[in-house]
Amino acid sequence: MKAFPLNVAVVAALQLPFSAGAFSVDLDAHRMPEVVSAGETLYAEHCASCHGSNLEGEPDWQLRDAEGYLPAPPHDETGHTWHHPTAQLFDITKYGTEQVVGGG
Ligand code: HEC
Repeated sequence: MKAFPLNVAVVAALQLPFSAGAFSVDLDAHRMPEVVSAGETLYAEHCASCHGSNLEGEPDWQLRDAEGYLPAPPHDETGHTWHHPTAQLFDITKYGTEQVVGGG
């Protein structure tokens, strides 16, 4: 099994306590093993169905489907998730891609 990327684990873990109202985010939480562990569990429950249990993403993830949507990208080193800053990954996960990059 591949090493689990800390930023994906932390982004998944950070979703749990902040589901309502104003919040602050500790983007250094990846230094806390219990947060990474919680993120791995949350990833398996809420993210792996699309992004893959081994972070592999969906087939042909760079090609839009017939309706113009992109499939889920991998979160391993073959994708581009690791290029983005942690704060941006948090925003994409919490608010959605459209809120962060636009484009519908
Ligand atoms: C229903 C399928 C689905 C689920 C479940 C899902 N995603 Fe995604 N995710 C996508 C798709 C599709 C994209 C690409 C959207 C685009 O590029 O327009 C995406 C994009 C992303 C991106 C941006 C990646 C990049 O390289 O730019 C991140 C980060 C992400 N997802 C994290 C998560 C996390 C964390 C979870 C679980 C809490 C999750 N996703 C659950 C379908 C899903």
